[in-house]
Parts: sequence; structure tokens; C-alpha cells
Amino acid sequence: MSPPIASRLSTSRFAPEGVGSGGPADRPERTRNALPERTRITLSVNGTRHTLDLDNRTTLLDALREELTLTGSKKGCDHGQCGACTVSVNGTRVNACLCLAVMHDGDAVETVEGIGTPDRLDPMQAAFLAHDAFQCGYCTPGQIASARAVIEEVRAGIPSHVTGDLSAEIALTDAEIRERMSGNICRCGAYSNILAAIIEVDESAEEPTDATREKNR
Ligand code: FES
Ligand code: FES
Repeated sequence: MSPPIASRLSTSRFAPEGVGSGGPADRPERTRNALPERTRITLSVNGTRHTLDLDNRTTLLDALREELTLTGSKKGCDHGQCGACTVSVNGTRVNACLCLAVMHDGDAVETVEGIGTPDRLDPMQAAFLAHDAFQCGYCTPGQIASARAVIEEVRAGIPSHVTGDLSAEIALTDAEIRERMSGNICRCGAYSNILAAIIEVDESAEEPTDATREKNR
């Protein structure tokens, strides 16, 4: 004999969350209340260790900006679309707006405040100035964080979508730079100058011959 209609509905995929579906309302009260809402973590930010007591929903970007008042990293979209929030975590660039801070307990974070100072600019910061690679500057901290990471990724042999020969040494061509910087949006359109800044930093570090540079274009 078929179960009553009410019984069938309560176990069907059309049953609302929490009503006979194994959802939150079906869990014992004790289990739901046992979940912590805040977590204490430590972050090493620009070489300084911080202990933070955070709402579990806090993004890494909000922890940096709101808790540590490091407002260099910008919130452009808060959806992983613009790259303005790019920071380095344990040497790898990430979109800080897409990371929960609690995922990074014990990690080392570098923001634009740790890259250089007005008196002692990082070579990439100096190159951005020299090439006028920004206008409003809102995207610039993320652009600089990504630009530095791009050079390191290429030197580490990490391929991109446009890398042709995966078995050969990767050349930092214009196409490679454009592809690897494509997650960083500049509303002002300073892209060509950003490209020039990255090339300058790469060339000044490696000093390739003109012939090599021409071949890589
Ligand atoms: S604010 Fe993180 S990608 Fe836009
Ligand atoms: S310099 Fe204005 S958004 Fe990039």
C-alpha cells in the first residue's frame, strides 16, 4: 500500500529545507547550537603577528581592512571579479574577498603596505610611477600585488592558459602578462602602462638582450 500523500511529500525533493528533509530543523537543537560563531586565529601580516577573534563569516579582506586597518587592499566588487583585493598568502596571490579569514589561521599575508614604503619603493611600485600605470589608483594595490606574482609564477615555471609549449622555459611575453593580469580590472584603462611597468621590472632583474626581448614579443 502507498504511504499517505502527506508522508510522501515530506520526504520528496520538493519538501522545503528543514521539513522532513534532513535539513537544519531536523537536527537536534544541541547540535545546531554547538557550532561556534567566532574563532580566534593568528595571522602574520607584513611580518607582524596578530591574534584576531573573528566572526566566522569574516573575509580575509575585511579582516585586513576592518580589524587591522590595513586599507591598502581595496574592495572593488567583493565577488572575485576585479582583483582590487589581491594579496599574497604564503607566497601565492589570492583574492582576499573570496577567502574566509578563518581558513588562514597561521598563514603569512603580504599586503601592499608590506611591499614598500614611500621612502623605499619596491621596484614594481617605482615602475608603476615611472610608467604612469594608474590614474585613480583604486585598482593599483591589487595590480602591483598581481604584477609581482606574475613574474614569480613565470620564473617558477607555472604555465598559463596562453603558454604554448609546456615543456619549454616560459617567456614573459606580452601575451603571458596580459593573460596573467586579466583578473585585475582597471576602470581607467591604464593597461598598456601597467604592461610596460611589468616588462621593465622583469628586464631590469634579468637584463635580457634586445634580441631575446624581441623574440618574446
Ligand atoms: S574585491 Fe575581490 S575581486 Fe573584487
Ligand atoms: S587606476 Fe583607476 S581603476 Fe585602475
